[in-house]
Amino acid sequence: MVGFGPGSKEDMTYRAREAIASADVVIGYTTYIKLVADLLEGKEVIRKGMTEEIDRCVEAYEQAKMGKVVALVSSGDIGIYGMAGPTYEVLFQSGWRPGDDIEVEVVTGSTALSACSSLVGAPLTHDFCSISLSDLLTPWPVIANRLLAAARADFVVALYNPKSGRRTQQIVEAQRILLQYRKADTPVAIVKSAYRRRQSILMVRLDEMAECDIGMLSTVLIGNSSTFVRDNLMITPRGYANKYDKLTGEAHEGERAGRSLSIGLTGWKSCVRSYLRDSPGSSLQAVVKYFDMPFEEILSAIHGAVAEDTAGNYLAIPVRDPVLLLNEVRNWGQLRAVVRSEGAVGEMMLDGADLNLHGERLSLETKNFHLHVDWGRIVHAWLVIRTGQNHGVYFMGNQGEVVFTLALVRQNGGFDTAAERGYRQAWERLGVTRETGHECA
Ligand SMILES: C[S@@+](CC[C@H](N)C(=O)[O-])C[C@H]1O[C@@H](n2cnc3c(N)ncnc32)[C@H](O)[C@@H]1O
Repeated sequence: MVGFGPGSKEDMTYRAREAIASADVVIGYTTYIKLVADLLEGKEVIRKGMTEEIDRCVEAYEQAKMGKVVALVSSGDIGIYGMAGPTYEVLFQSGWRPGDDIEVEVVTGSTALSACSSLVGAPLTHDFCSISLSDLLTPWPVIANRLLAAARADFVVALYNPKSGRRTQQIVEAQRILLQYRKADTPVAIVKSAYRRRQSILMVRLDEMAECDIGMLSTVLIGNSSTFVRDNLMITPRGYANKYDKLTGEAHEGERAGRSLSIGLTGWKSCVRSYLRDSPGSSLQAVVKYFDMPFEEILSAIHGAVAEDTAGNYLAIPVRDPVLLLNEVRNWGQLRAVVRSEGAVGEMMLDGADLNLHGERLSLETKNFHLHVDWGRIVHAWLVIRTGQNHGVYFMGNQGEVVFTLALVRQNGGFDTAAERGYRQAWERLGVTRETGHECA
């Protein structure tokens, strides 16, 4: 299986050239066969149509079984949106196993995203992902979710199969989804037929992308929030500016060459705590919003607090078993339940004893309100204290989000003594300590 790169002779690897040269039979999609025409003299050539992908794999296997050396060719890297996957599937279905008489090898090639990137500057020098907009074999919700996740995570995105004669709206939808998280002027490079005769390059803004000339042979590269265009070159900074002075090359104060950034993994949690110390008035919701990170990450940073690096007036401890905690909560009397949805907060006063857990549903019904919680979503809980203000219980979902919270009620400047004692006991009995990772004895 041979990937011959974007299409030009010069960009084919030596190994790919050798593999084709040593083959008795070359099999491929008609257009691909044309692109390697100069290597085919004296060889048996089998051309197949675009839709005959499985035929190409079966044919390759049949020819190899006859004892011939076969090159199944594909553009770019044959293992990237290419024939390598279906070929292995056909081989396995036919009973082939590695080590059998027929040897199988995948010869790598330069894939479209690197070929196209090389023509427009250096757009992929930081984390990127590729997404194919072809919904011929992939359901659209899967594609839309990937676009959304990539957009939110600020990946540079390479779109393969962005548009065809029939598939014209996928690129419009992709643009709409990306614009939810990216600025309208985010740089986009549209590269058509890279390293082929009709090569063309367009540099546009994200909000112009869907209107542009895009086809079956285009790859679209969409920048992240730091990508810029200068002199028609699209560059995604590698991040050196975070660490080194541009002029002197010296590491910024607090940074060291060869070491994680001060806001690397350990530094990041410390940074959250320092923010909490410096802004004692901030609610946890405000902190989550400020850092644009899931709630769970902020709570985990608070949990890491030590005497010399406190989290301001916050303390937090995770509880693995939310059901055990709920059983404790039932004895704490008057509580305040808080349920948030985007743009709205519901607060209700209730008695812990009235919370009823029936399988996947936690409910409480009074004549003034009904509270129904999808308990199936709760994976664990946190006990969170804001000293002198709040003793809360956060029930968490599996994406690090808060599903709902309960808090002790303050009356006459303090908490009910029995409820506060119960809360402290739960902290000690059910909380997971950092040192051991185990529940306290
Ligand atoms: C089925 S995928 C094959 C990808 C190929 N195996 C690779 O690694 O590049 C076809 C898509 O690859 C991209 N593509 C392939 N060759 C290209 C080229 N020379 N210039 C720009 N895009 C290309 C286009 O997005 C096209 O729709």
